[in-house]
Amino acid sequence: MNARLKLSDSLNLIKSFKTSGTITPSSKVLIKTLLAPIDFTSARCLIELGPGTGCVTRSILKRMHPDCILICFEVNGDFIDQLEALQDPRLRVVNACASSIRSILDDLDVEEVDHIVSSLPLALIDNEVVKKILESVRSNLRAGGCFLQFQYSLSNYAELKPIFKSVKLDFTFRNMPPAFVYECTK
Ligand SMILES: C[S@@+](CC[C@H](N)C(=O)[O-])C[C@H]1O[C@@H](n2cnc3c(N)ncnc32)[C@H](O)[C@@H]1O
Repeated sequence: MNARLKLSDSLNLIKSFKTSGTITPSSKVLIKTLLAPIDFTSARCLIELGPGTGCVTRSILKRMHPDCILICFEVNGDFIDQLEALQDPRLRVVNACASSIRSILDDLDVEEVDHIVSSLPLALIDNEVVKKILESVRSNLRAGGCFLQFQYSLSNYAELKPIFKSVKLDFTFRNMPPAFVYECTK
C-alpha cells in the first residue's frame, strides 16, 4: 500500500473510530498472518467481515483463484464506494451487518463458504450482536473451514473456544497496535 493511500485510509478510519475501532489500516505482516491458513488454490467462496477501506480485501483478491468469489459485509456506507471501486468481478460488496450472512448467501444462491476472514472490532460491538455474528459465522462455514479474526486484546477468546472445534492463537508486534490472530476451525 502506498503512503498516500495509507494516509487517506487512516483519515477515513479515524472519522469512523466508533465503529472501526482503529486509526490505521492493518499492516502487511498482520494481513499475511491472518490469511496464512487459507488454501487459495482450493477455496471457491470466501467472506470478509468489516473490510473498511479494503486493505485486507485487496490482499485476498490478489491471492484468490479466478473462479473464487469474495463476499464483503460492511456496515459503514462511506466505505462501500471505495470497495466497489476495486472493480473486481469476483467481489460482492454488501452494505449489511455481519450477523446477516445467511440471508445474503440465500440471495446469492450460496449454500456454505470455505473460510471467513474478519477485522470486526468485536470488543466494541454489543454482546448480543457478537453472539449472533459468531453463530452466523459458524453455521455458514463448511466443515473444516476457518474463521480468521484479529483483535487487539483477548477479550473474545473465551467466547470463541466453545463454538469451534479448535481455536489457535497467533500474535504479531508488527501492527499498530500489536494484534492477536485467532484461527478457528469448524
Ligand atoms: C478495524 S476496521 C477494519 C478495516 C480493515 N479491514 C483493516 O484491517 O484495516 C473494522 C471495520 O468493521 C466494520 N464493522 C463494524 N461493525 C460491523 C458489523 N456489525 N458488520 C459489518 N461490518 C462492521 C467497520 O465499519 C470497519 O470498517
